[in-house]
Amino acid sequence: AEQTRELKERLAVLKKERNAIILAHYYQRDEIQEVADFRGDSFLLAQKAAETDADTIVFCGVHFMGESAKILAPNKTVLIPDERAGCPMADMVNVEGLKALKSRHPKAAVVTYINSSAEIKAETDICCTSANAVKVIQSVDADEIIWVPDKNLGDYVSKFTDKKMIIWEGYCNTHDMLSVKDVMEMKAQYPDAQFVVHPECRPEVVKLGDFVGSTTAIIKYCKESDCQQFIVGTEDGTGYQLRKDSPHKTFHFATKFLVCPNMKVNNLKKVVKCLETMQPQIYVPPHVAEKAKLSLERMLQVK
Ligand code: 13P
Ligand code: SF4
Repeated sequence: AEQTRELKERLAVLKKERNAIILAHYYQRDEIQEVADFRGDSFLLAQKAAETDADTIVFCGVHFMGESAKILAPNKTVLIPDERAGCPMADMVNVEGLKALKSRHPKAAVVTYINSSAEIKAETDICCTSANAVKVIQSVDADEIIWVPDKNLGDYVSKFTDKKMIIWEGYCNTHDMLSVKDVMEMKAQYPDAQFVVHPECRPEVVKLGDFVGSTTAIIKYCKESDCQQFIVGTEDGTGYQLRKDSPHKTFHFATKFLVCPNMKVNNLKKVVKCLETMQPQIYVPPHVAEKAKLSLERMLQVK
């Protein structure tokens, strides 16, 4: 406790010195969410990065999130607490593979989940997050869509469009592990609870959802719902905001395996250290960043 207090004090001083803001994804450890200026899902945090007046952004999440912040705010310094915090789903698609698919479907528009590298975004017409995926697909002026990299979110979105979707085979290790059996067992144990689920889960699991949405959408739904108990089908860090917003409601995570190890690589100590040393910084080569920026900005413009 003493150490945490010291870290928080150092952080407050450093934040002023560096004119920094701290953005934290809902999957971060509680100790990071506690000190964040903004907590949010991928969409909200990308928006905050694009809008901020701060000189320095400390992005607490995984690598592609920091990278997206840097692309949207190229004149700011973007720090991440640990370079090793990556997203395995983002690594499931490479530029060569995407280019090959594009050449086989030359008329298709490329819609890319924000969980992807800057190089992939540079080969993309428009990005999306789980919060706006349906709206983005519906905004695209093409009959055919190449969708990368999440097959589960792709399947979910395909239910809301008549467009032909060519879906990449990527997935999130954490969400894809949740099974129908896990959810059915929880439902039997907590019959009064509603099941809220992230669309990165498998289609057959998503189908069981009383509510399907991004982390921000799930949090909002649980806060506003009259229901007092929820089975939660997303990463366990979400519990921080869920409990903060609704201290009298009960949240049962659908399994104890809903933990993203990459998100948990970051901790408060590393947040303080990166502001002290101003390292590691995100760098995106300008020729990649310029193209990637267009696909992210198009996403931010979708109403
Ligand atoms: P959202 O932030 O869009 O809810 O996505 C969850 C996720 O897995 C981020 O890596
Ligand atoms: Fe990637 Fe899944 Fe972790 Fe999100 S929860 S960062 S999609 S591995």
